[in-house]
Amino acid sequence: MDTQVGIVGGGPAGLMLSHLLHLQDIEAVIVEARSREKLQTEVRAGVLEQGTVDLLRETGVGERMDQEGAVHHGIELRFNRQGHRIPLSDLTDGREIMLYGQHEVVKDLISTRLDAGGQIFFEAEAVGLHDIETQKPTIRYRHDGQDHELRCDVIAGCDGYYGVCRPSIPSEIRTEYERRYPFGWFGILAEAPPSSEELIYTLHERGFALISTRSPEVQRMYFQCDPDDDVGNWSDEQIWKELRVRTEVHDGWALEEGPIIEKGIVGMRSFAVEPMQYGRLYLAGDAAHIVTPTGAKGMNLAIRDVRTLAEALRAWYEKGRTDLLEDYSNTCLKRAWKAQRFSWWMTSMLHRFPDDEGFQHNLQLAELEYVTSSQAAATSLAENYVGIAFDH
Ligand code: DHB
Repeated sequence: MDTQVGIVGGGPAGLMLSHLLHLQDIEAVIVEARSREKLQTEVRAGVLEQGTVDLLRETGVGERMDQEGAVHHGIELRFNRQGHRIPLSDLTDGREIMLYGQHEVVKDLISTRLDAGGQIFFEAEAVGLHDIETQKPTIRYRHDGQDHELRCDVIAGCDGYYGVCRPSIPSEIRTEYERRYPFGWFGILAEAPPSSEELIYTLHERGFALISTRSPEVQRMYFQCDPDDDVGNWSDEQIWKELRVRTEVHDGWALEEGPIIEKGIVGMRSFAVEPMQYGRLYLAGDAAHIVTPTGAKGMNLAIRDVRTLAEALRAWYEKGRTDLLEDYSNTCLKRAWKAQRFSWWMTSMLHRFPDDEGFQHNLQLAELEYVTSSQAAATSLAENYVGIAFDH
């Protein structure tokens, strides 16, 4: 089988790329190892930056998001048993964020692609890339128990951290940067009303906690835990107690509780690869970089990568220009490192570090007091949180 752009991976990056290419009359085929059902139900983060929201709307996939998502104009930082609001929109000329689950975005993109005749092979596992240094690279994959080959002009590696694409860049050319953290996030979904109109990020002596939301009926919450912990070690009552203790304030605010319908532990790491391209292979999203979840940048960054790639491919197919494709890695890496910095900074400010004897905790409180009392510092947080401009 032949196509123009072979996309490995049908997460947000692969799906959005195929959608953008379709709007530019460029043909693409997605090869995705997971089932459609799994992609559409996997619980991931749920904060969309203004730029992501705009892109979804402009390209015709924002309708359900606008009906079911919730626009937020601020977040709360909580420490020393007190909340402090960061007015994101006031500090960023009215920019806002949207609370809408990543798997909902995935669902919308899949149906939009399939309705437009897009080709997505689900449960098709890519086993290797070949000839990526030539003008006809191929993706080998297994589907329905048979081996297949997809010949393309270009391969987009959107297959996540564990996929086959990144290791296809020869190791002499590839530099990988990684930082691991001595904690994870215990995440739950609960059937309960919202506890707050805005997200609450809190630092407590026992560690980080985050109160987020998915809908008026379903809430998403996280608390810092041992990365090797097991969800089975925690009863629902222990989970609520931990969340209550960490989010407690002086003013009588109370956490809304209800049946827990989902539990999981999220790992915490920062990762980046340079370069993000080799021959006719271009990496996007988690295949190229992982950011810590604090600030929910992961999917937003993936969407920015593929927007850049789609623009570069358009210039190449329509005008024969190669400059944007040649710059792809540099353009994306500059942005990705800024998202790394912000996510690392939020993570460092808001978590308890196991080997800290108090010095770091006091620095964290100083940082939080600074961010919540200085307009300059709050503005820096806000512009990163809503997403810095696409071309910066
Ligand atoms: C959510 C996840 C995040 O990592 C974050 O910073 C904010 C919200 C969420 O899943 O709702």
